[in-house]
Amino acid sequence: MTGTTPGLKVYPIDFADFIDFVAKDREAKKFLLRLRDLAQKRGEFLYFAGGMVRDYLLFKKGRLSFKEIKDSDLVLEGNLEEFLQELNGGIKKEILFKSQFLTYKVRVFLGKISLEVDFITARKEVYEGIAQLPKVFPSNFLDDLLRRDFTINSLAIGLSPPYEGLLLDPLDGKKDLESALIKPLHLYSFVEDPTRIFRGIRYTVRLDFSFAEEFYQALEVCYQKEALKRLSSTRLVNELRLYLLKEGEDLLPDLLETTYQLGVFENAGIEVARENFPVLCEVLKEIKEEFSPKERERVYLLGLVATLSDLERLGFSEVEVKRLANLLHDIKGLCNRIKKLSLKEKLDWFDKIRRDYLCAFAVIFPELKEEVLRYLKIYSKVRPELNGEDLKKLGFKPGKDIGEILKLLRLKRLEGTIKNKKEEIEFLKNFLVKNQ
Ligand code: CTP
Repeated sequence: MTGTTPGLKVYPIDFADFIDFVAKDREAKKFLLRLRDLAQKRGEFLYFAGGMVRDYLLFKKGRLSFKEIKDSDLVLEGNLEEFLQELNGGIKKEILFKSQFLTYKVRVFLGKISLEVDFITARKEVYEGIAQLPKVFPSNFLDDLLRRDFTINSLAIGLSPPYEGLLLDPLDGKKDLESALIKPLHLYSFVEDPTRIFRGIRYTVRLDFSFAEEFYQALEVCYQKEALKRLSSTRLVNELRLYLLKEGEDLLPDLLETTYQLGVFENAGIEVARENFPVLCEVLKEIKEEFSPKERERVYLLGLVATLSDLERLGFSEVEVKRLANLLHDIKGLCNRIKKLSLKEKLDWFDKIRRDYLCAFAVIFPELKEEVLRYLKIYSKVRPELNGEDLKKLGFKPGKDIGEILKLLRLKRLEGTIKNKKEEIEFLKNFLVKNQ
């Protein structure tokens, strides 16, 4: 079926079913319909595009299990600022974020629930420099679909007239979705925005898709133009971060290997330690519960690179790289001796080193892995029941010594020679007598 706009294919869909997919409860549904009514009243076209449409079609084909949709991308061909102002009546909302790209992240409060919605202005993008952020201009839905990364993301489902309940497909994205192909929109796609390479890798791995021939061709042009080398460290790190934070540890080995095989790291100016990928993924999984996302991200980046100088490409400061070089030197010496060290000596070493560095060393030096993980998961969590205040009451002088005594108590508990608070007090009384 062909629509009124040249090249645009338009397919009817089961609109009620789509709304059920997008809006999980009555309040959310009511809200969507209210948005639809407002767009209709204002004579502006409101539609879903990108991930939501792609995932709905995949879900209908049984290629994607039902997923919790945390946020939705709604695009308006019109004046978004005015639209959101007019939405005020009766709807409590908070604008969380307004970007330079004419988008608003809004939290709406609907009775007992709240929803995060990304409102986007239909836009055209003009890329003026290789790997630079584009200039953005409000435009129509077709330009908005034609500015995107892959054909499978260049699909829209209309929420308001003139395309209410219709699937809009200007580039045969539906066909590529059915053939499970990741196809960029044009040959210069990755020159304009090299982050799309990482996005494409995420989609192939996450959805179990393949790269279309056009993906490899666009990649080749990107390499020729050295566009990946020009991608800023911040944007590069952000893409690598999404591997871990958005896709997760289970997909990480495949994501890293695919990135490596395509020559992406090399062309981005990073030498990676490919032989460390398996142990890196294993360690990241092991520390998932123990570490904050920020800490895990640092372990990931530190474990990924082959040399310290690669860290600067990933945004690490010169000062930090120097600090790491010194530590690395000390740790190298420790590796051969680790098995021979007493528990106290190991604790003395590990207590001195930041947890994220320690974990990265466990990736770089496999002989440290077990000891470091045991330290992080067990040793570092064991605490004496007595604290500094208790020690002062028992007659210890405030100061550095108290810290040392607490460490000693922890060691005794780890060794199992002290088992409870009573035994801690007993031990300290004897200690005071001996050291008087
Ligand atoms: N997009 C793009 N080029 C980029 C980033 C985003 O064309 N460099 C477009 C894509 O059409 C994408 C949409 O913006 O579908 C929204 O981006 P994002 O939320 O990052 O991706 P989703 O498609 O929602 O996919 P995911 O499931 O990973 O969230």
